[in-house]
Amino acid sequence: MPENDDTRFKGGLPDYLIRHTTFRQMQIFEAVVRLGSFTKAAEELFLTQPTVSTQFKKLSDAMEIPLIDQSGRVLKATEAGSELYRTVRNIFDSLADLDTRIAELKGLKRGRLRLAVITTAKYFAPELLGDFSRLYPGVDVSLKVTNRDSLFTRINDNEDDLYILGQPSNDNNLESHCFAPNPLVVIAAKDHPLVNQTNISIKRIAEEPFIAREVGSGIRDTAFKLFAEHGCVPKVRMELGSNEAIKHAVFGGLGVAVLSLHTLSLEGANGPFEVLDVEGFPIQRKWYLVHRKDKELSVITSTFLEFAKSIGPEITRRMEDLYEQFAKLHRENRKACANSE
Ligand code: PGA
Repeated sequence: MPENDDTRFKGGLPDYLIRHTTFRQMQIFEAVVRLGSFTKAAEELFLTQPTVSTQFKKLSDAMEIPLIDQSGRVLKATEAGSELYRTVRNIFDSLADLDTRIAELKGLKRGRLRLAVITTAKYFAPELLGDFSRLYPGVDVSLKVTNRDSLFTRINDNEDDLYILGQPSNDNNLESHCFAPNPLVVIAAKDHPLVNQTNISIKRIAEEPFIAREVGSGIRDTAFKLFAEHGCVPKVRMELGSNEAIKHAVFGGLGVAVLSLHTLSLEGANGPFEVLDVEGFPIQRKWYLVHRKDKELSVITSTFLEFAKSIGPEITRRMEDLYEQFAKLHRENRKACANSE
């Protein structure tokens, strides 16, 4: 290994890395850190474990610094390892983009799109990807659904091409594109005493047992803020980390909940829930497509970004139609009640 910076660099490039490391080693390093295990990395890459260990060691030797810390129960990247991990992801993203561009030059439309979305976006993101895949059948798509904390870790680690969040980020390093509505509504079981009432006050809702999303949920924060603005706090009976679990609790008569209208899109107004007519609702939240500003978007990612934005008006229409279905049912039920009195 050369000893001083003059010989470590040639033509402004880190010659020692170019000569002593390989893409294969970096691929192995990336897999070991991402999967937190040599065994899993070997399995994923169809290599033997000794090959993985040897190549990993060669890379550490070339870098002259430990890349992982195995002292605890879980394998973790050291600070140098984390730097290398981010760099390797950028290199591989550039290579994947190169592959896409070359494929385009050859007249092929193929490549890869990795989308990661916040919990509630799972109610429309798969359809969005499905529509995109029909247009570009050669593109491999993957979807990760996760909570806000884990999403921000993924953004930081450059794990995916694009993210969908329920609010724009305050982080100056991120770019957010608003593209579709995310209306929040108060739902109750069909036999709930409040279903036929109009203009129910927030204070009245605060008297009902409330099924809340977990701490950290954007929907929870927004709902609690509205209650606070009206000088009240909801009477939380149960906290659940899943929209579907909340729907089951509401269906079981355990209380009312604030959820995104997207969560009712499959069952529609004929399902087992009513949308209550509550002051201040629906809360008009939005969905945002987010990426790091310093990330050069691949052709496929930019194409998907534009595609998602172009579908925004269609999602708006669907949400308006769904809301109107519930409102119509509400009017009809009230009329039927009035006639029977
Ligand atoms: P959540 O996010 O699913 O974590 O609540 C959605 C949102 O912020 O609207």
